Amino acid sequence: MSRAEGFAHPLLRVPTPAGWIAAALASPDVLLTDHANCEKKAASTALALMFAYAEDLELTAKMSRLAREELRHYEQVAKLIRSLGVTPRRLAPGRYAERMRRLVAKTEPRREVDLMICGAFIEARSCERFAALSPAIGAPLSDLFQGLHHAEARHYKVCLDLAGRAAKRARVALQPRVEEFAALEAELITSSDPVFRFHSGPPGQSSGC
Ligand SMILES: [Fe+2]
Ligand SMILES: [Fe+2]
Repeated sequence: MSRAEGFAHPLLRVPTPAGWIAAALASPDVLLTDHANCEKKAASTALALMFAYAEDLELTAKMSRLAREELRHYEQVAKLIRSLGVTPRRLAPGRYAERMRRLVAKTEPRREVDLMICGAFIEARSCERFAALSPAIGAPLSDLFQGLHHAEARHYKVCLDLAGRAAKRARVALQPRVEEFAALEAELITSSDPVFRFHSGPPGQSSGC
């Protein structure tokens, strides 16, 4: 799959489809509830990496900072959810992160490289979606998303730097692996998705929760 015309994100191959933006504008409650889940999951993934690579002080320092930032993001989203009167509810996760994780190697040293590439794509897509939604969604969500956009841009670079470092140590080529994740990511973002979530594709047959 080639890069979409006029789309120049350094990591992502395709922009968020207009169909997903329309679904997000129509379902702000689901959007915010799943967004809060994404922030919690990002913090918990960073903590899991600190345990998995406990001997790596550079990685653990970066992941500790990232986990704290993600929890602050969660608190911002949760505050907005309360102030808007969104009814708290449980939402099952969508397909995106689980499908990306399936591509992660089961054994080291490739596993660390893949985990960091996977994290970079999830952060980059969050960043791109905040930028895509901000002009369309109106206050107060636009204010929150504009603020978060910069943090997620920084996060994807942290993950990509750590992927590059792990690849160098493992003597594996980074770019071909990035391309494999990029192709899968583009497929998940552009193919119709039966469930609307923060990282879902455009709506498919039903947009159940
Ligand atoms: Fe975040
Ligand atoms: Fe993040």
